Amino acid sequence: MSTNGSLEGKSAIVSGAGRGLGQAYAEALRDNGVKVLGFDLLESVHEIDGIESMVADISKREDVERIVSAAEEAFGGVDILVNNAGAWRVTLVDSPWEQAVEDWDFIMDTNLRGLLMLSRICVPIMQRNGGGDIVNISTYYVLPARSEGTNNPQTDLYCASKWALNGFTDAWSKSLAKDNIRVNGMCMGATDTPMLRGLFPDKQLPPEMAASVMSAEGSAQQMIDLINDGRTGENIGAWVGYPIELGPRKHAHKRITG
Ligand SMILES: NC(=O)c1ccc[n+]([C@@H]2O[C@H](COP(=O)([O-])OP(=O)(O)OC[C@H]3O[C@@H](n4cnc5c(N)ncnc54)[C@H](O)[C@@H]3O)[C@@H](O)[C@H]2O)c1
Repeated sequence: MSTNGSLEGKSAIVSGAGRGLGQAYAEALRDNGVKVLGFDLLESVHEIDGIESMVADISKREDVERIVSAAEEAFGGVDILVNNAGAWRVTLVDSPWEQAVEDWDFIMDTNLRGLLMLSRICVPIMQRNGGGDIVNISTYYVLPARSEGTNNPQTDLYCASKWALNGFTDAWSKSLAKDNIRVNGMCMGATDTPMLRGLFPDKQLPPEMAASVMSAEGSAQQMIDLINDGRTGENIGAWVGYPIELGPRKHAHKRITG
């Protein structure tokens, strides 16, 4: 499905827009007529043409408040929030526990606490303005395996942070449906970004991976299609070796409370 231009004139915040997937998301939204504020720890965020940019740390409350104030001032609201900023460390269950505790703060402050602060500040603005979209960038680790060899977490803490992210996607999508706010997760496999390349010597992808790795631009188009589609409460998969597609809507579960 291609974009139908319905995003024209909307406004968005993209976290972690200085490189990789976040940069691709910011550029795709911009190219679809969206007014974008991208922020990152990295100064490179200022190099993206045609967007508002800020250097800021999502794990710091004062920075998050500054970002949302700037978006409100520049755009009069926030229609789309792309929770992309993410931190990765290789923390294995048999690594020293002291390291795991230190890594916990680093990973969870960015991947969860920062995301929580940013989203919770934006939600009342979306409610006031009649709706919005929140897209949480997750990982294929949290999806059922599609073929042998998938869903093999290489780090327990990063993996745990993304599973917890699902909790937000699920709970918020249900709670905020009444406010016309859609909340979805995007769960991609290996995508060619500085984060992925950082896992390999000299930042070179192994030949087999280089031949099959997904592109950030492909993921960005999937995100545009997702927002245009208007569904909510789904984790959208994208697997190495398969076309990056939105796919049909899933049937909602019948929920049993209690
Ligand atoms: N690349 C992959 O294969 C892959 C696969 C699945 C999911 N993801 C997810 O996609 C998202 C983007 O990943 P990427 O591969 O583009 O990574 P990346 O490291 O290349 O880019 C992430 C960006 O987030 C920024 N960032 C990190 N901490 C921040 C903070 N505290 N405040 C503000 N900005 C911060 C970084 O500076 C960086 O520019 C992450 O959430 C990641 O977990 C990536």
